[in-house]
Amino acid sequence: MVAPALRLALHDAVLASRRLVIFTGAGLSTESGVPDFRTPGSPWTANKPIPFEAFIASAEARREAWRRKFTMDDSFAGAKPSPVHRLLADFVREGRAIGLVTQNIDGLHQQAGTPAEKLVELHGNGTYATCLDCGMRHELHVIRPVFEATGRAPRCEDCDGPVKSATISFGQRMPEAAMRQADRWSREADLFLVIGSSLVVHPAAQLPLVAKANGAALVIVNREQTPLDPAADLVVRGEIGEAFAGLSFQEPKDRGLAPSGL
Ligand code: APR
Ligand code: ZN
Repeated sequence: MVAPALRLALHDAVLASRRLVIFTGAGLSTESGVPDFRTPGSPWTANKPIPFEAFIASAEARREAWRRKFTMDDSFAGAKPSPVHRLLADFVREGRAIGLVTQNIDGLHQQAGTPAEKLVELHGNGTYATCLDCGMRHELHVIRPVFEATGRAPRCEDCDGPVKSATISFGQRMPEAAMRQADRWSREADLFLVIGSSLVVHPAAQLPLVAKANGAALVIVNREQTPLDPAADLVVRGEIGEAFAGLSFQEPKDRGLAPSGL
C-alpha cells in the first residue's frame, strides 16, 4: 500500500515541475509482464545476459546468447505498455517532461507513444538486432527461424559480421550520443523522477546525482530501497501502478485525486 501522503507529495512535485526528466528501470515494466533483473526469482537469473567479450570470443557464446534472448522474449511476448507508461508518454508529449531516459530494452515507452526525439535508451533496445561490424539493422522475425533451423548464430547479410541484439551488454561501450543527451537533460532538470530502478548499474545510476548536483529535486518511486534513497528529496515506497493510480495532472485547478485519472 502506497501511503496517501506520499502519493500526494509525488503528485505535487510533478505538478510543480516545468523541466521534468523521467528515468525508468525494469520495475516499470513488471506490471506489463516483463520481469525485472534483480527481484528474487527473476527468470533473468536463469538466463543471464552473456557479457560482451564472451559474445565476441566464441560462436558457442553467441549461440547461447541468442538462445537465452529468444527464451526471454517468449516469456514476455505481447507485453503492452502499462497505464504509467502511457502517463509518462503524456508528460513528454505535453512538454512537462523535457526527456525520458530509460534503461529498459522492451520498447514499451515507444509503444506507449513517447516521442522518439525525447526518449533515450541507455541500454539499447531488444526488439531488433544490429551487425557489430557495419551497424546494419536486422529484424528478429527474420533471424529467429534461420537460427532455429540451423543452430548458427546470425551473421550480417551485408558484411558477414556478427549480429547481436541491439541491447548494450555488460562490457559493451555505452551509446555515446544517448549518454550525452541523458547527461544534458539531467543538468537541465528541475525534477528528476526515478521509476522502478535498483540504481545499482553505472554509469546510468550516476544521472540522478548529476541532476541533484545541478539543482534538481530527486524523487524515487520504487518497491525496494535504493543506494540513492538518502540523496532523494522524496522516496515513494511501493508499487508503481498504485503510486500513480487515480492521480490527475491537469493544470492547476485540480489538486489531487481524480475519480480515475489513469
Ligand atoms: N513497483 C515498484 N517497484 C518495482 C516493481 C513495481 N511493480 N517491480 C519491480 N520493482 C523494483 C524492484 O524492487 C527493483 O528495485 O524495480 C527495481 C528494478 O531493479 P532492476 O531489476 O535492477 O532493474 P534496473 O534497475 O532497470 O536494472 C538496471 O541492469 O541488468 C542490467 O541492463 C540491465 O538495464 C538493466 C540494468
Ligand atoms: Zn554488417
